[in-house]
Amino acid sequence: MFSTKNFFALSSLSMLFTLANAFPASIAQRDVYTPPITYPTSTTVWNKGEVHNVTWDTSNAPVNITDRFGSRIQLRAGGLTMPLILADEFDILLGTIPVTVPWVITGDDYQLVLFGDSGNFSPEFTINGSAE
Ligand SMILES: *[C@@H]1O[C@H](CO)[C@@H](O)[C@H](O)[C@H]1NC(C)=O
Ligand SMILES: *[C@@H]1O[C@H](CO)[C@@H](O)[C@H](O)[C@H]1NC(C)=O
Ligand SMILES: *[C@@H]1O[C@H](CO)[C@@H](O)[C@H](O)[C@H]1NC(C)=O
Repeated sequence: MFSTKNFFALSSLSMLFTLANAFPASIAQRDVYTPPITYPTSTTVWNKGEVHNVTWDTSNAPVNITDRFGSRIQLRAGGLTMPLILADEFDILLGTIPVTVPWVITGDDYQLVLFGDSGNFSPEFTINGSAE
């Protein structure tokens, strides 16, 4: 007799097999890696248009890194990640990358997010841009 419950159990089982086949073992051995940002700090003040070297600590880098060159830096404002990319597709093992400070409203609650596989946030810092 046809049972909906069994039907779903079977289809999720076959989905698991499909997923397992989609990811070869070599990729499964790789490590998610998102190192902590060391600059900017909570006392940093950036002015619009300046170029600054964002830095992060690579001392605990694993041997095999997932998507090593798929790194990205985005701006956060008021606790929300903005769709504004400051740098991307750089080597996460560089430990530093120059970014140009975007022209934004002046505020003291900006953060950067460094994306490896998940994101690490910088402390909140100030961007001196335009009137509040
Ligand atoms: C790194 O990847 C290589 C090749 O895929 C593998 O042989 C090795 O065991 C991995 N090392 C670690 C520490 O995961
Ligand atoms: C950023 O790093 C480059 C290369 O190391 C250096 O020449 C430059 O002076 C640095 N810029 C700042 C603002 O520290
Ligand atoms: C902020 O930017 C304005 C205009 O560019 C400049 O006059 C002022 O000195 C800056 N303030 C700081 C704290 O850097």
